[in-house]
Amino acid sequence: VAAEYERVHAPRTAQIGADLVTVAGVLPGERVLDVGTGTGVVAEAAQRAAGEKTLVVGVDASLPMLLEGRRVRPASRLVASQAIDLPFRDARFDVVTAAFVLTHFTKYDTALHEILRVLTRGGRLAVSVWGEREDEFQRTWREQVEQVATKEMLRGAMAKAMPWEDRFRDPRRLEETLREAGLRPVRVERRQYRFEMSLEDYVISREVAASGRFLRDMLGPRMWEPFRERVRTLFRERFPDPLVDFRDVLLAVGTKPVS
Ligand SMILES: C[S@@+](CC[C@H](N)C(=O)[O-])C[C@H]1O[C@@H](n2cnc3c(N)ncnc32)[C@H](O)[C@@H]1O
Repeated sequence: VAAEYERVHAPRTAQIGADLVTVAGVLPGERVLDVGTGTGVVAEAAQRAAGEKTLVVGVDASLPMLLEGRRVRPASRLVASQAIDLPFRDARFDVVTAAFVLTHFTKYDTALHEILRVLTRGGRLAVSVWGEREDEFQRTWREQVEQVATKEMLRGAMAKAMPWEDRFRDPRRLEETLREAGLRPVRVERRQYRFEMSLEDYVISREVAASGRFLRDMLGPRMWEPFRERVRTLFRERFPDPLVDFRDVLLAVGTKPVS
């Protein structure tokens, strides 16, 4: 899914990532680590803020995502690594960013502990998560998915891909989690983003997300193609092309105490 992620998702996450870097207050010369960098859009924004010569690194557990990032952003420094086992010395970075990845961690507390290890005292961790409940486009997609897979199967697949989606879309629990990890102070803000996308790209964005990937595996090519066709027809009947989607995002930043 890496190439499709870069084409349909990355333009949106790049826009939010640039704001995340601003919220983190990245200054020229500050070293930045972007955890769960995907194809590297936030690392790229951080490099712009920190300056070309400053150390900015993106890490991700997925080699295909990193390879796509390297193809599109050849100047970026990208490293394959799990968030719970970062290949860096203690206190190596002034800022860590983690965009749309916290909900994916199996053990978010272990990952946060490791992230704080590589953060210098007085350094900041900035995270973004999708904030809202389902909108009409997501609901339409879900209803179609539920016609071919049971709710239990879907719940299981989503719990595996994004075990903490519900927890972190709640700003209070997001703040509490960052405070429990040892960050002080912690600030969480909600922002709304407007995205305009062709219907085709919107449906592709659902197909490469967790529920779509699960369904494609489950159905196999023979049943997946007719399903895709049905969904496209329904979206064309119900919605204008291009569609305009408003999404809430939580941006949070916390500081590792100096003492
Ligand atoms: C939704 S994408 C976000 C990518 C990027 N931050 C952005 O804003 O476009 C989540 C990324 O986190 C990565 N990821 C998930 N769990 C991870 C883990 N435990 N360690 C490192 N990367 C992880 C995935 O491979 C994926 O590339």
